[in-house]
Amino acid sequence: MAQQVRGVVAPGKNEPVRVETVTVPDPGPGDAVVQVQACGVCHTDLHYKQGGINDDFPFLLGHEAAGVVESVGENVTEVEPGDFVILNWRAVCGQCRACSRGRPWYCFDTHNASRQMTLAGSGTPLSPALGIGAFAEKTLVAAGQCTKVDPEVSPAVAGLLGCGVMAGIGAAINTGAVGRGDTVAVIGCGGVGDAAIAGARLAGASRIIAVDIEDRKLALAESMGATHTVNSRTSDPVEAVRELTGGFGADVVIEAVGRPETYEQAFYARDLAGTVVLVGVPTPEMRLELPLLDVFGRGGSLKSSWYGDCLPSRDFPMLIDLHQQGRLDLAKFVTERVALDDVEEAFSRMEAGDVLRSVVVF
Ligand code: APR
Ligand code: ZN
Ligand code: ZN
Repeated sequence: MAQQVRGVVAPGKNEPVRVETVTVPDPGPGDAVVQVQACGVCHTDLHYKQGGINDDFPFLLGHEAAGVVESVGENVTEVEPGDFVILNWRAVCGQCRACSRGRPWYCFDTHNASRQMTLAGSGTPLSPALGIGAFAEKTLVAAGQCTKVDPEVSPAVAGLLGCGVMAGIGAAINTGAVGRGDTVAVIGCGGVGDAAIAGARLAGASRIIAVDIEDRKLALAESMGATHTVNSRTSDPVEAVRELTGGFGADVVIEAVGRPETYEQAFYARDLAGTVVLVGVPTPEMRLELPLLDVFGRGGSLKSSWYGDCLPSRDFPMLIDLHQQGRLDLAKFVTERVALDDVEEAFSRMEAGDVLRSVVVF
C-alpha cells in the first residue's frame, strides 16, 4: 500500500524548501522502497532549488543517502528487505553500448524507479533529485540504485559515498588513475577536493598539493592527507606546484572547482604527458580558451570525471572496507548531523563555506 512520509520539497525557483507530506507508492517491477537513515546535503540539491539543473519543479531533494531496504517489487534480485544500502544515482543498464563493451561506469542509459512519488493531497508528481529524493523518511528507487554494504558502518558516513565523496575519491583513483609515487595537485578543497586528496593518499601518491583560496580550507585539506598547501589568492598556483614537483608540474592535477580559470591552472600545473581531471561542474555560460598548440604540445590526457567514474557495486563496498580498516577516514567528512527540518539552514552554511557536509539523520 502507498505510504505517506515527510520529505523536503523545493516548490519553485529560489523558493525556500518545505517539509511536505509525500506519497511513496509500492515498488513497481525492478523497484525498491528504502527507509532512509541519513542523507547528506550536497551542492546539487541547492542547484535544483535554484533552478540551475532544470525546471521540473517541485523537486523532492536529497540524493547522498544510506538506509535499509523495506520492500522490493517484482524481478528484483540485487537486494532484499532488511539490506543496508547506499543509494547511487547511476543504476547501470547492462545493455547500452558502454555497458556492453565492459565499461559500465560510463553507462549511457542509467535508470530510476518505474513509479512516481507525489505530493500528498494534490497528487502533484515530484521530481526526485538525481532520481533519488532521499530527504524523506522513505523513498522509491530502482533496485539497481541500491548497493548493499556492511551495516556496521554509520549511515551518515556510508551515505556520503553516494555522491560527493565518491566523486572526489573516484576522480583520483578511477579517472586520474593515481598510482604509487605519483605527484598530485588538487585545486579546490571543498568536500569533493578533500575526497580527491584522501583518494590520492590511498593510492600512494608521493606528494599531494592542495590549492585553495582560503586558509581554513587548506588546513582541513592537510588533515585529509595533503602534504603541501598553496593559497592561490596570494601565490601563483602553477608556479607553486611546479616548484614543489622539481620544476616539472604534477603527474595528475584534479580540478574540483568547475571554473575556466582553475581549469587553466590545472592544465599548466601538470607535467608533460600528465593528466588533468575535471570533477568540478561548470555552468552553461563558461568558456575555455587555450592555445591549441599547448594542448598538443603538452600531451597526456584531459579527462572529465562523472561521479568519480565509479561503479557502485565495485567501489562502495571496497571503500567501506578501507574505512573499517582505518585506512580511509570517511567520518571526517561529516561536519554536522541535522534534522529534516534544517535543510534550508544547512544550505546557508554550505553557501558560506562553513561545512564539508551537513547530514540529515532520521
Ligand atoms: N581557486 C581555488 N579554489 C577555489 C576557487 C579558486 N578560484 N574558487 C573556489 N575555490 C574553493 C573554495 O574555497 C572551496 O574550498 O573550492 C572549494 C569548493 O568547495 P565546495 O564549494 O565545498 O564544493 P564541493 O562540494 O567540494 O564541490 C566542488 O565539484 O561536484 C562538483 O558541483 C560540484 O562544482 C562543484 C565542485
Ligand atoms: Zn548501460
Ligand atoms: Zn551530490
